[in-house]
Amino acid sequence: MLTSLTRLYPSDAARHPLSGLCLGHRLVERAETGQPYIYSSFIMSLNGAIAIDDGQGNWTHPETLTDPRDLRLLCELMAQADCLITSGGYLRDLERGSLGNLLQLPQTPEFQDLLDYRTQNHDSLFPTVLVVSRSLDFQIPASIAEHNQILRVLAPANAPEQRAAELREQGVDVILGDEADWVGSETVVAHLKELGARTAYLFCGPRMNGILMQSGQVSRLYLTWLHRLQGGHPALTVGSFLPASQARSLRLVELHQAEAEGDLPGLWFGYFDA
Ligand SMILES: NC(=O)c1ccc[n+]([C@@H]2O[C@H](COP(=O)([O-])OP(=O)(O)OC[C@H]3O[C@@H](n4cnc5c(N)ncnc54)[C@H](OP(=O)(O)O)[C@@H]3O)[C@@H](O)[C@H]2O)c1
Repeated sequence: MLTSLTRLYPSDAARHPLSGLCLGHRLVERAETGQPYIYSSFIMSLNGAIAIDDGQGNWTHPETLTDPRDLRLLCELMAQADCLITSGGYLRDLERGSLGNLLQLPQTPEFQDLLDYRTQNHDSLFPTVLVVSRSLDFQIPASIAEHNQILRVLAPANAPEQRAAELREQGVDVILGDEADWVGSETVVAHLKELGARTAYLFCGPRMNGILMQSGQVSRLYLTWLHRLQGGHPALTVGSFLPASQARSLRLVELHQAEAEGDLPGLWFGYFDA
């Protein structure tokens, strides 16, 4: 696997090791007292797709939109999260087996440095998990209890009460908020504060990303572009086209390139600050 990247911006014509690139951002130091530092990441094809339609109305994240170099960077971001914000959709993907379980860092030798980092810089080896859902139509993965993780589910006021009660009977912390349709950014931030999270990794799709981005709560967006055209559809956020006065401008901080190698296409990896 490629282990170095060329930094294109700010350009220094030098190669840098891929391992440690995101860990070096020391995101926990960016959190201001009492205000969680929220960051998100996406991998996409050159035509901007982050998922594909499985033909039955479900969006799925195909194997061809994954990359071992991106996985390493993603795990470095995971390692820095006090809290992981995820969705009912991801828990259903886990149940179906269509996506791998990243609610915990992989406990394999190649990620041992991240587990060590975690031990030195965070109160627990594995993050608190905040799940947003409207349907509450998911099961809690067994790995949560196995790793003693705190988990909280946030749902809007019109979420099915019967299902909320079933989950509570299983000991799940389910909170129905005041919002009618979607859990809003203020609610998410309030719960992050209550849970004592200094950093939160937004590990969700375009709906939640759009809500938090639009409200200005996402401080940093990490993007990986695979140099491959492969159709697909959803973008980074959903919602109506915004006038320039409401659109969010982001500032590119760094852009790196990895060349194609074997079956792996080239990629760009960059990040933007709000
Ligand atoms: N390429 C990438 O880097 C990347 C990253 C993330 C996701 N994806 C893909 O994108 C697709 C969609 O992702 P997703 O399902 O995680 O997320 P999403 O687009 O953010 O939302 C989908 C589901 O999450 C729940 N949800 C999101 N925001 C909510 C809110 N504010 N309040 C209440 N519930 C909310 C709802 O769950 P319920 O249905 O349970 O009500 C909703 O149906 C998937 O195929 C995923 O694999 C790709």
